[in-house]
Amino acid sequence: MRNVILVTGGAGFIGSNFILQQMQGGDDSNLIINLDKLTYAGNLQNLASIATNRRYEFVHGDIGDRDLVRPLLEKHKPRAIVHFAAESHVDRSIRGPEDFIRTNVDGTFALLEETRAYWNALPEGERTKFRLLHVSTDEVFGSLGPGDSQFSETTPYAPNSPYAASKAASDHLVRAYHHTYGLPTLTTNCSNNYGRFQFPEKLIPLTILNARDGKPLPLYGDGKNVRDWLYVEDHCEAIATVLRDGRPGETYNIGGWNEKPNIEIVETICDLVDEMAPRVGGRRRALITFVKDRPGHDRRYAMDARKIERELGWKPKATFESGIRKTVRWYLENDEWVRNVTSGSYRQWVATHYSS
Ligand code: NAD
Ligand code: TYD
Repeated sequence: MRNVILVTGGAGFIGSNFILQQMQGGDDSNLIINLDKLTYAGNLQNLASIATNRRYEFVHGDIGDRDLVRPLLEKHKPRAIVHFAAESHVDRSIRGPEDFIRTNVDGTFALLEETRAYWNALPEGERTKFRLLHVSTDEVFGSLGPGDSQFSETTPYAPNSPYAASKAASDHLVRAYHHTYGLPTLTTNCSNNYGRFQFPEKLIPLTILNARDGKPLPLYGDGKNVRDWLYVEDHCEAIATVLRDGRPGETYNIGGWNEKPNIEIVETICDLVDEMAPRVGGRRRALITFVKDRPGHDRRYAMDARKIERELGWKPKATFESGIRKTVRWYLENDEWVRNVTSGSYRQWVATHYSS
């Protein structure tokens, strides 16, 4: 019997890192099915190294397409689903929230319904072992003041952006499917990730590439909003840990114990790019440009990740210094990847979003 995991959104930033990490271990009894719609954020180039591997299969489709998901589950009989698929960029959710509701809320609902039907029909032994792991975010908890304690698993939800609200809705649905139907679900809420394959609309890759090219480095508001940054490989290991050892129905906060104001992130990147790709025109810090703030911009996120450490023994391995250095180097060395993702619709987004 094959050990099958269905991954949704596996062509995106975190999903592709997760799949590559999973493919490093295991044996021929393992199979990963990657169901991805390939939106602007999905990129099969991330997975080119395993594209023909017999332990991996790509399925192009929408999690909301129940006529696709149903036979997929019946055919492959996964023992777990790891649900990454989502619209994930806050600024896009402000400009156009509809796709966020369609995928994050309706899509998760459709996936849950099909999973429930599939799980109900499984033989008893497999029903107990089955898991659906829902990958979520710290943004569902809202915004912290400077002296507030970090978000814990029991912090009340207070989402502030359409993105955060759509993820909060999906978290609630997952919770209800466990509580009402007994579906063995696990939810992880993670802080901001960084690393290879992140689409350059997000702060860190955007800053690296603009710094490389000598373009302005846009900081919203006063640049002092705080995020808790986690290296993506650590997040993927945390997800694997929760999938293996997490208790059904529980939620686990994942974070990097690494709170930093945006200005500090951008300055660090400037200095690394100066070091790795010196420029005649002077230091990159001079490119920092304060721009109009994001509407409803959450001031501070910070995760209390003690539960996952205490109960499951996970804690981040990378320091910010090591992770950001590797990340800057990766973007500077992978020009073909960068060129492929920064064409057409990406340019359009940057032109529209930063025009004022
Ligand atoms: P991403 O935007 O890079 O990737 C999302 C992937 O989902 C893409 O491959 C896209 O094609 C796919 N997708 C979108 N709609 C789909 C649909 N309807 N059906 C099937 N596939 C679809 O996102 P990411 O940064 O990799 O985030 C993955 C998950 O982790 C998301 O659920 C996000 O909310 C969560 N998360 C992200 C972060 C972060 O810092 N990036 C932090 C915490 C949690
Ligand atoms: P982002 O990477 O979009 O992640 P999130 O909004 O999910 O935390 O942004 C990280 C932080 O950087 C956030 O406080 C917004 C800020 N930011 C800028 O200052 N300038 C930018 O151009 C972008 C994209 C983000």
